[in-house]
Amino acid sequence: MFERFLVGPSLEFGGVALEDLVAEFGTPLYLLDAAVVRARARALRSAGGEAHIAYASKANSTLALLQIIEQGGLDVDAASIGEIEAALRAGFGGHQITLHGNAKTDVELHAAVQLGIRRIVIDDFVEIGRLALLAEAADKRVSVLVRVAPGVDPKTHLAIRTGQDDTKFGFNIGNGSALQAIEAVRAQKSLHLRGLHFHVGSQLMNSQAHVAAIRRCGELARDADGIEELVVGGGLGIRYTPDDNPQSVSAFVDSIFHAVKRAFKNDQPKIGFEPGRWLVGEAGTTIYRVAVRKSVGRKTYVAVDGGMADNPRPQLYGAVYSAFNASKPGEDHDATFKIAGRHCETDTLIEKAKLPPSTDVGDLIAIPSTGAYNACMASNYNRYPRPATVIVEGGEAFLAVQRESIDQVFVNERLR
Ligand SMILES: Cc1ncc(COP(=O)(O)O)c(C=O)c1O
Repeated sequence: MFERFLVGPSLEFGGVALEDLVAEFGTPLYLLDAAVVRARARALRSAGGEAHIAYASKANSTLALLQIIEQGGLDVDAASIGEIEAALRAGFGGHQITLHGNAKTDVELHAAVQLGIRRIVIDDFVEIGRLALLAEAADKRVSVLVRVAPGVDPKTHLAIRTGQDDTKFGFNIGNGSALQAIEAVRAQKSLHLRGLHFHVGSQLMNSQAHVAAIRRCGELARDADGIEELVVGGGLGIRYTPDDNPQSVSAFVDSIFHAVKRAFKNDQPKIGFEPGRWLVGEAGTTIYRVAVRKSVGRKTYVAVDGGMADNPRPQLYGAVYSAFNASKPGEDHDATFKIAGRHCETDTLIEKAKLPPSTDVGDLIAIPSTGAYNACMASNYNRYPRPATVIVEGGEAFLAVQRESIDQVFVNERLR
């Protein structure tokens, strides 16, 4: 998977030599290739036609990355007051933001109402009354979507599976809650029901679960009448390893269009997409330095200068990545290493990584496809400062997020 970075005998990211990036910004280092994000935004807009497209900023809400998304003509979805703030700081207007969340606070709902946010996605009955009151108090009519749980199993990891009947998200179609929620919203003068929303899960290799969910939404829309919009969430997967083979974005989008046509017949809703991972995941690569090489029994470890604090996904839900030795890209990657992190848990980054047999202390290890759900999930575990994020484009490196200093790790604390 690393050939795309190889320029002659050395490695480049966005036209900048890796060695220069590491010399200037250190390791561990999050790199983002802006051209990949721009190309994906273009591809999605061209496949999507009239559809509304909002980037799911939970995947990575680095401000300078959000700017690129905004320049690409996409709107944004936020799952918290912090993500709303990130979108505003990056230049989005309230009318471009959709608010999600299964347990929104009054502060979040109030901010959304005041900002004239594009859509608020309602997740529970209690939210309907709370939001209606806030909207009345502000003398506004707020546009909302009802999030439904369509009762489909997307066959992805439990932690990123959200469309099944017993999910914590949204209103169940099967037990009648979704229809009741639609009626409850329609009974509120200060709320304007625009349509339905679902998100079935993440890192899906094809649209099968979406298509099944659309069928359920079509049935619901026949009972509910007047559904103008259908947002089908995100979910399209990316290549973490050479074995991952996601459907192309155009095939994915086309199959959604066809499914909506079939399911909604004469009352076609406007379609919305909310991709996160697919837009930014493959744009990211994390660079580490090998700190230790150690053989234990038949296993050889390389321990790097990062781990679960900058990428918790392998620990959280067994996410699988591939790696390459960025110091020795020309050598055969045919020896098996276990790539360990430096944290005080067994924080394996990659169980069986193929690297050159000569891989050793001081080498740079690159792990591609870390642009989504890495930086935004990072922590200071073991009091390590979070890495820098550098956006590279056209031979220029832009420091989008400065590496945290050790002082910043303690900035909110005081001694008694
Ligand atoms: C409501 C909603 N929309 C969109 C997304 C983005 O999903 P993905 O990154 O898989 O495209 C998520 C992810 O959790 C989500 O919860």
